[in-house]
Amino acid sequence: MPAPAKFCFVIHPLSLDDVARYEPGAKGKGAPIVRKIMEWMPPWGVAHVTGVRAPDGRETEGWFVSAPLLPEQMMEFPREQVYDRILKAIQIGVDLGAQIAGLGAFTGVVGDAGITINERSPIPVTTGNSLTIAAGIQSLFRGAHEMGIDPSVSTAVVVGATGSIGSACARLIAPRVKHLILVARNETRLRKFTEEIAPELPCDVSYSVEISPAVRQAQLILTATSSTADVIQPEDLQTGAVVCELSLPHDVSRRVAIERPDVLVIEGGNMLMPGDPHLERMRQPGEEFDLNLPPRTALACMSETMVLALEGRCEPFTLGRGIDLAKVVEMEQMADRCGFKLAGMRAFDAAIGEDELDARRAAAAARRSLDSAALRSG
Ligand SMILES: NC(=O)c1ccc[n+]([C@@H]2O[C@H](COP(=O)([O-])OP(=O)(O)OC[C@H]3O[C@@H](n4cnc5c(N)ncnc54)[C@H](OP(=O)(O)O)[C@@H]3O)[C@@H](O)[C@H]2O)c1
Repeated sequence: MPAPAKFCFVIHPLSLDDVARYEPGAKGKGAPIVRKIMEWMPPWGVAHVTGVRAPDGRETEGWFVSAPLLPEQMMEFPREQVYDRILKAIQIGVDLGAQIAGLGAFTGVVGDAGITINERSPIPVTTGNSLTIAAGIQSLFRGAHEMGIDPSVSTAVVVGATGSIGSACARLIAPRVKHLILVARNETRLRKFTEEIAPELPCDVSYSVEISPAVRQAQLILTATSSTADVIQPEDLQTGAVVCELSLPHDVSRRVAIERPDVLVIEGGNMLMPGDPHLERMRQPGEEFDLNLPPRTALACMSETMVLALEGRCEPFTLGRGIDLAKVVEMEQMADRCGFKLAGMRAFDAAIGEDELDARRAAAAARRSLDSAALRSG
C-alpha cells in the first residue's frame, strides 16, 4: 500500500457569522463592509490538521486553507476570478507540503464542479462528493428507521436532483422506495435527466420544478441544492417526515426547528474522524480551530480528502456532475477501512439524542391522531 500523503482542503465562510468565527475582528462590522473586504482579501492558511490516524496506524496531516468568499460571491463573481482565488488557496497548501487538495462547499460547486480547477492545479483535486453522497444515503435511511418509516412504501424527494450530489443520491435512493420525485429549477435539464435515468430505476419516478407540492407528497426528503436561501419550509412537511440535508449553507428553514417538533431534520454529511485529530489555528498557535461541529467531527467532503491522503491515492477521485456510483461504493469502503464513521445525528447546531428522538416520535404520533380525529369529524 502506498505511504500516506499530506492534504489541503479549501474552506470558505458560509455566512457572515462564519466570517466572525474565522476572523473575530469582523464582529460588529456592517455586512456591506465585510463583503467588500472579502472581495480583495487573499487566501490564507487557517488550520493545521494533525492526528488523523487509521486503526492500522497510518497517519496523515494537512491544512485547511481559506478562499474567503461567501457562497453568493462565489456564484456572482466572474468565474475566472473565483477559480483564481481557489487556485491561490491550493498553492498555499502545496507550499506547506500538501499532495492532494479537497474542495469545500461552494468551491466544489462553482463552474464545472472541480474539473477546471483540477486541470490548473499543481496537485490532484477532489470535490469530496463521493463520501458526501455515501454519508447522505446512510443518514437518510438511518433517519427513516428512527422515525419508523418503511422506505419501500414511501415517497422520497431529492431537491437539487440534477446536481453532482443530488443526481447520485437519486439513483441510490430509487431502489429502496416506492416513488421518487426529482426537483430542480431548470426544467429542461431536469426532464432530460429524468428521462435518462427513469427506465433503469426500479420505482415510480416523476419530476417537478415546484418544491412545495413535491415535498408535501414525501415522507423522505434529501436536499442538496446550491441555493443560498432556504428552500424547505415547515408548512410543506408531512407529519413525521425525515429531511436529510447535505447543502451548505443549509436548505432547511430555521423555522422548522421551532414549528415542527414532529419531523426529523438531519445534517447528513458529518463524519467522525479516526485517531486523535487536532485542528490548530495557524495564526494563533495552540488554539483549536472551531469548525462549528462537535469534537472529532468533520464534513464528509473533508473526510474524503483525508481518506485519499491516508490511502496514498493522490488522484482526482471525484470531479464534475454525473458521478460514477462505483466510486461512491469504493470511497465508502476506503473510508471504513481508514476508520471514518457516520457521525451522530445533528441539526440546527445541536445533537439529536435518544430523548430528542422519543420526543419527535411522540409529537408525530400525537399529530397523526389529531389529523385523523379532524378527518373523522369531517
Ligand atoms: N455536507 C458536505 O460534506 C458537503 C460536501 C460537498 C458539498 N456540499 C453542499 O451540497 C450542495 C450541493 O452541491 P453540488 O456539488 O451537488 O452542487 P451542484 O452540482 O451545483 O447541484 C446543485 C443542484 O441544486 C439545484 N438548485 C439550485 N438552486 C435551487 C433552488 N433554489 N431550488 C431547487 N433546486 C436548486 C440545481 O439545479 P437548478 O440550477 O436547475 O435548480 C442542481 O440540481 C451545496 O450546498 C454544497 O455546498 C456539502
